[in-house]
Amino acid sequence: MSHSEDFAAVLTRGLTRRDAIRGGVLGGLVLFLPWAGNKRQIPTPHGAGGLSFVPLPPSREDRVLVAGGHAAQVLLRWGDPLMPGSPAFDARRQSAAAQALQFGYNCDYVGYIPLQPGRAASQHGLLVVNHEYTIPELMFEGYDPSRPTREQVDIQLAAHGISFVEVYSDVDDRWRVNRDSGRNWRVTGLTPILMAGPAAGHPWMRTSADPTGMRVQGTLANCSACVLPWGNVLSSEENFHLYFGESRDLPRSDPRSNDFMRYGFPDRASQYGFEKVYDRFRIDREPGESYRFGYAVEVDPQDPAWTPRKRTALGRIRSEGSTATATTTGQVALYYGDDIMFEHVYKFVTRHAWRPGDRSHNRGLLDQGTLYAARFHDDGRGEWLPLVAGQGPLVAANGFPGQAEVCMNAVRAATLMGATRMDRPEDIVIHPHTGKVYIALTKNPKRGEDGLPGGVVNAANPRPANKAGHVIELEEDGGDHGGARFRWRIFLLCGDPEDPDTYYGGFPKSRVSRMACPDNMAFDLDGNLWIATDGQAELYGDHDALYVVPTEGAERGFVRRFLTGVPGCEITGPCFSPDGTTLFVSVQHPGEGGTLSDPHSLWPDGGLPSRPSVLAIRAADGRRVGTGVGTEAAQA
Ligand code: FEO
Ligand code: CA
Ligand code: CA
Ligand code: CA
Repeated sequence: MSHSEDFAAVLTRGLTRRDAIRGGVLGGLVLFLPWAGNKRQIPTPHGAGGLSFVPLPPSREDRVLVAGGHAAQVLLRWGDPLMPGSPAFDARRQSAAAQALQFGYNCDYVGYIPLQPGRAASQHGLLVVNHEYTIPELMFEGYDPSRPTREQVDIQLAAHGISFVEVYSDVDDRWRVNRDSGRNWRVTGLTPILMAGPAAGHPWMRTSADPTGMRVQGTLANCSACVLPWGNVLSSEENFHLYFGESRDLPRSDPRSNDFMRYGFPDRASQYGFEKVYDRFRIDREPGESYRFGYAVEVDPQDPAWTPRKRTALGRIRSEGSTATATTTGQVALYYGDDIMFEHVYKFVTRHAWRPGDRSHNRGLLDQGTLYAARFHDDGRGEWLPLVAGQGPLVAANGFPGQAEVCMNAVRAATLMGATRMDRPEDIVIHPHTGKVYIALTKNPKRGEDGLPGGVVNAANPRPANKAGHVIELEEDGGDHGGARFRWRIFLLCGDPEDPDTYYGGFPKSRVSRMACPDNMAFDLDGNLWIATDGQAELYGDHDALYVVPTEGAERGFVRRFLTGVPGCEITGPCFSPDGTTLFVSVQHPGEGGTLSDPHSLWPDGGLPSRPSVLAIRAADGRRVGTGVGTEAAQA
């Protein structure tokens, strides 16, 4: 039995349409689950149909270009009104109250949850979009980083988080936002959230505003996410350490001070300067606040009244985002990485199986289970090391008296256990037909530098000064995502194909598109791997782009450039409609590096400010995206 059949059996074992509707009626919203969303499509049989578009050349233009035979539209821009009563975007009259009702800044993850069954599933859905961070220099005229105003900080807090937006495609095949929908809502940097799991309420995460250590204001740095089998969204707080300043004066006697160094908190000013306005972002005054960030947050898109939960059992990890799948015995396995140089790859396996239709059971699943970190042996084998208090070096003498401490300082626990230090693990995705796991290692220019602990070149991170990144292919032993052992191999060593140290899955390199710094990834229905990049401009001067590569068959490793971005941007969140005929993708931080007085990009409106936006891309004649034909690039 193939992985996909196996998985489909797990899914359909009891999840009937009636369950789905019953689950939805409870929350007033019908979701057509399971596993809707880009990262875990249910394989549907279809005729063979490979990629047919003509690859684009690299671009330095201030417009988004898409391969011929496709059309692209800007669907959602920063500041777009989302709800009845949302004010229209006005860059000169921003307010926190308006922003909380509008589409947030720096769109990243995109998920799609169908709101109709059958064919209509791909014409009417709920988009889930993360807003990772803000760039005040591109949001506010005359912004002074040394003295952010309270209003500027409040607007930025409201511009973070998640947007839930009902969208539909019309007879003219254009996608539209339903602004009158009762289903649209926002999670922001101020939304009340509960801490959950082993570390919830721990003394280290208590603050003067919340002596219980259980209730936190907001979520920040939400990079990528996944849709869980019960329909909730699990969104990861990635670079949370950049939001907290003034760690230098925390007394060395405080048991937390080592953690602050390991997680890279700034000594003085943070990147965003929120601590200049609010004490909760000052580590010397409120050290507990930073222990309430850095987790995966579970949100119920159907039910804004259900308080979102930060799942501490998954560890405090600067994770890009997680991808969920099922084990052979019906538990949920989540894969994720810590996107920092020399950090690790993780997996979490729930103790209990998920139960289709049993929302209250499923909502507690992520609080109990086993957290693992990966060790990649040089011989192509690997193992998942359990991070369990009391086992091996994870004992009180090393700062781990219990599982709460393991979770709050998971990265140090993983290193102590002997996990492999990687080249910045970003997205991790699972092939819908083979079950193989693909890990993007975006880059690590310090790999191999003398004197860095664990920084030596190893087989899984084989290039010194790795500026272009690579992709690893991992196969769990027996195909079981709950297992403890795996095999792995290098799939891509990215970079200029003319460089001898690159490798494109064994495909003739003269035919591939140059690609570097892999970040977000998604599979299409055919099992082609779509890879968005973050950082190519530093290497080649070309804008970041979206590529696609088959992982199986004669074209394994044949990387083709499908879409090119604009100055300063990265491409994020690729996500397909269930039938593969629409690709949603984010253009994040257009113009980054510039300011409003020295702009680097005027995209998408040809004026200021540049606005991070989500695109909807389709092929002509209702074909699946990637199978369009034509030589004329389309523009968005
Ligand atoms: Fe938010 Fe790993 O990039
Ligand atoms: Ca990003
Ligand atoms: Ca990313
Ligand atoms: Ca990145």
